[in-house]
Amino acid sequence: MKTVNQKSALKILKREIGFLDNSLKNSDNPFHFFCFSTIKNKNPESRTVVLRNFKKEPMRLYFNTDERSSKVLELKKNNSCSALFYDNKRRVQLRLHCEASIHNNNQLTKQIWDKTPLQSRKCYMAPFAPGIELEKWVPNLPKEYLECDPKDEHSFIGFKNFNVIELLVKSFEIIELHYNGHIRFKLHENSNEIKFISS
Ligand SMILES: Cc1cc2nc3c(=O)[nH]c(=O)nc-3n(C[C@H](O)[C@H](O)[C@H](O)COP(=O)(O)O)c2cc1C
Repeated sequence: MKTVNQKSALKILKREIGFLDNSLKNSDNPFHFFCFSTIKNKNPESRTVVLRNFKKEPMRLYFNTDERSSKVLELKKNNSCSALFYDNKRRVQLRLHCEASIHNNNQLTKQIWDKTPLQSRKCYMAPFAPGIELEKWVPNLPKEYLECDPKDEHSFIGFKNFNVIELLVKSFEIIELHYNGHIRFKLHENSNEIKFISS
């Protein structure tokens, strides 16, 4: 029978942190995308986002979004949120509870904006706020840049809408599926003690 103890669980945790790191530059890694959930009034709301950065100690995740989007409004009311990752090939799920901070028009957003390709900056120049109901479908992009990228000097108009969301990880749960017993455990912020959980 296999045994899993604190030491081997910590090894699994380290391995998964390695996968999160790798996903930043590797869109084939399923952790490149995650399901991000917020609370809207009392109801959950989930959507897919791209993991843009990951920092350890304290553990933080980052993704980019539009200041005008519903998720930002929801986070302003309640910054408690969750991030869910799943690697189908390795059969590993990561479930993180987080507290979000919204970065807008500051040093961090400026640094990241400067490295953001013009093609991606274009999304933040969209005439309609994301989530608006339309009478008929139209591409939500500036008309003059439908088929081309904006010029660097014009793209700045999107900067005010460009947000970086920082997620401070409060708890990190892993479940690894096995026919002979799933391995499930959790770690809380500021603790190195693994808590095993039944699955
Ligand atoms: C593969 C994929 C990646 C996405 N990445 C992001 C992202 O990094 N940031 C983002 O704001 N929206 C991203 N979206 C769009 C969101 O899923 C969502 O539709 C949008 O942000 C509006 O969400 P909201 O109305 O809940 O704010 C992505 C969608 C897909 C399908």
